[in-house]
Amino acid sequence: MQKMNDLSNYRKSYEKNKLLEHQIPKNPIDLFGIWFSQAEKLGTTEEVNAMNISTLGLDGFPKNRIVLLKKFSGQGFSFYTNYESEKGKAILTNPKVCLSFFWQSMERQVIIKGIAEKTTEEDSDSYFACRPIGSKLGAMLSPQSKVIPSREFMEKQLELLEQEFENIEIPRPKNWGGFLVRPISIEFWQGRTNRLHDRIRYQQKSNIWKIERLAP
Ligand SMILES: Cc1cc2nc3c(=O)[nH]c(=O)nc-3n(C[C@H](O)[C@H](O)[C@H](O)COP(=O)(O)O)c2cc1C
Repeated sequence: MQKMNDLSNYRKSYEKNKLLEHQIPKNPIDLFGIWFSQAEKLGTTEEVNAMNISTLGLDGFPKNRIVLLKKFSGQGFSFYTNYESEKGKAILTNPKVCLSFFWQSMERQVIIKGIAEKTTEEDSDSYFACRPIGSKLGAMLSPQSKVIPSREFMEKQLELLEQEFENIEIPRPKNWGGFLVRPISIEFWQGRTNRLHDRIRYQQKSNIWKIERLAP
């Protein structure tokens, strides 16, 4: 029998910041940008652009995993992956996804619901081109999310590819590229004392962002 691991005393009081209606911009991407740079400036070891993406899988289960946000703008939020991975197939079947960020140092969370679409070939090409060689070969050799025989199998393949592409430009694999998530709702959560956290949700309604406060 395994022992019971009781974590009921793990409790933190959140006191660093506030999120009040009179302080916030009309557009949630502007607020996201402000929060992103504040998280960046704290200069912690956090990967500020690491985000959780949840998809509804072909098996009917939701699944979360971390990916790296590589761009954001008024259009949405982009990341890069293998289109034939578990998440790639899930998104191409059901493009409704949810992204979330937890910036622990700021006691902040952002949750984005949106519709994902492939970015253009040009966008994927230009991002692929700026990746280090090892990452390019990794993308080429990894049948992401599939079962493989061993680590050695992968390492052997890497060696072969390194020889094959010595002094040759590595082309972007056609099954690898970007997704752009166009947001329909963005919720900002700021930890506060006594668990009376601030939650402000922006929802897109006929091209206007409706702003509402949610109970914590
Ligand atoms: C910090 C961090 C960053 C990651 N960034 C990416 C990424 O940008 N793209 C990606 O495909 N996988 C990334 N991964 C790996 C994914 O979490 C995941 O294992 C992989 O994409 C396969 O997911 P899937 O089988 O659900 O499709 C990252 C993992 C971590 C922990």
